[in-house]
Amino acid sequence: MANHLNNNERQGLQRAPSQLVGPDYKSSEERPEATVSTAIQQKNVVILPQTPQLIALLTMIRDKNTNRADFIFYSNRINRLLVEEALNHLPVHPHTITTPVGRTYAGVKFEGKICGVSIMRAGEAMEQALRECCRSVRIGKILIQRDEETSKPRLFYDKLPEDVKDRWVLLLDPMLATGGSALMAVDVLRSKGVPEERILFLNLIASPEGAANFSKKYPRLRIVTAFVDEGLDEKNYIVPGLGDFGDRFYTL
Ligand code: PRP
Ligand code: URA
Repeated sequence: MANHLNNNERQGLQRAPSQLVGPDYKSSEERPEATVSTAIQQKNVVILPQTPQLIALLTMIRDKNTNRADFIFYSNRINRLLVEEALNHLPVHPHTITTPVGRTYAGVKFEGKICGVSIMRAGEAMEQALRECCRSVRIGKILIQRDEETSKPRLFYDKLPEDVKDRWVLLLDPMLATGGSALMAVDVLRSKGVPEERILFLNLIASPEGAANFSKKYPRLRIVTAFVDEGLDEKNYIVPGLGDFGDRFYTL
């Protein structure tokens, strides 16, 4: 019987959905089928629209033959999309201005202060995109490392803006695998008084398990991710994933 199962089913993973990708003016025969994000039930998880551009960028960084310079460049581009989307989840208030031709325009302005918090090391790779969108943004750091044998996170260090509890926090980590590291980072933020609903977790690739663990413990915290993958392998790496993000961005 087991022989009739495909690889995913054998490992208990969901089959990844696929979709025709390409501009609408092309016929369906001319649009290739590509793997897109798994849909998940958790309402607090926002998945970026699976556009041709995003799928092409993800294809670059998932490829094991992509060199470090390209990996940095293309992951930065996705990080930028994540930051732009996350900013849509911040509240705004009315702001009417006068244009140079003397007319008024009823616009909006962001309400409240923000800061970034990166989970070191890989989360630091997302800081550039945040700085490009929010000049001189304050950025706190939390050093959490996942034990390579047990996959359990260990907290080594945190340094956060003094008034972090009064800010919206954009928490940065590209990989959400078991969820252990990010949950530990949220515990640190909570211990400093940051309300759950004022945290936005920006993430490049999530596993369905990690997203579910997160939503169960912190249902009011929003996750903005580019892609929910199929699952985790026996070493708790995300599959198909992209390997070790920190190694590929910094040292490989
Ligand atoms: C990676 C990644 C996350 C964590 C995800 O970091 O950047 O922080 O693993 O795994 P989890 O969801 O199972 O906790 P890692 O500890 O390998 O350190 P690095 O940032 O130095 O690469
Ligand atoms: N950390 C990574 O960098 N990649 C994974 O797949 C899991 C944890």
